[in-house]
Amino acid sequence: MLVNGIELLNNAKKEHYAIPQFNINNLEWTKYILEECERLKSPVILGVSEGAIKYMGGFNTVYNLVNGLINDLKITIPVILHLDHGKSVVNCKKAIENGFTSVMIDASNYSITENIKITKEVTNYAKQNNVAVEAEIGHIGGSEDNVEGDILYATVDDCVELIEATNINSLAPALGSVHGLYKGEPNLNFERMKEINSSVKVPLVLHGGTGIPSHQIKKSIKYGIAKININTELQIVWAEAVKKFIRNNKDVYDPRKIINAGEKAIKQKIYEKIVLFNSKNKV
Ligand code: 13P
Repeated sequence: MLVNGIELLNNAKKEHYAIPQFNINNLEWTKYILEECERLKSPVILGVSEGAIKYMGGFNTVYNLVNGLINDLKITIPVILHLDHGKSVVNCKKAIENGFTSVMIDASNYSITENIKITKEVTNYAKQNNVAVEAEIGHIGGSEDNVEGDILYATVDDCVELIEATNINSLAPALGSVHGLYKGEPNLNFERMKEINSSVKVPLVLHGGTGIPSHQIKKSIKYGIAKININTELQIVWAEAVKKFIRNNKDVYDPRKIINAGEKAIKQKIYEKIVLFNSKNKV
């Protein structure tokens, strides 16, 4: 069932677990994620970046793909269809109009005043449509959709100001995590995370979940992180498995066999994350 996830995330924060956001790229990934989360009875957020939406054909195709799979596979867990890093009000509105149940407005490249103004425009529209909104403060580093960015740490004051002014449902404060691979051990600012958590009520979101060691994930959940985004890690295990399959099966040309060679690896990684985030049996 498609839901906006507001209650689920509030509950996750209260009960100290995190709901996984897995990014989707195509039909197969969406199917694997839904099947494995259904098996484990974990709520799930399907994150779709603007680049992935373009790749798959558009907002409407993505919505119908997800909705179709939920019906055909008889998925009973709550599923949140989420626009990941919406870069404009226009794209957030398009997602909402096409059935997405949650959007992230990422105006983190702007000043705090401008970020608030843009985010408010999205929350006003989203509320009328019962859609959840996530916003970003500071700047998460690394590379997403092949766009590089530097880390800019969120401040407590900016977080409080943005939440009060916009009425968002969740907040992604940049605290040192990066999209993609880390060079060395991630250096998250837990002191700041703790301070932000005690100053705001909304659930916090950790982007750049790939490569963050388990002990840091557990600590983050303790400090109010209720949603953790994973993208690169699924891509890596899928690509490794498919490359190995192709090396060992040079005569196979059936795309279903080639693409599906990554199924087990993706499902195994999802299982590990759900156990670590403690979202199993939370539906
Ligand atoms: P990773 O690709 O580092 O897992 O980050 C995913 C993410 O934060 C999507 O918004």
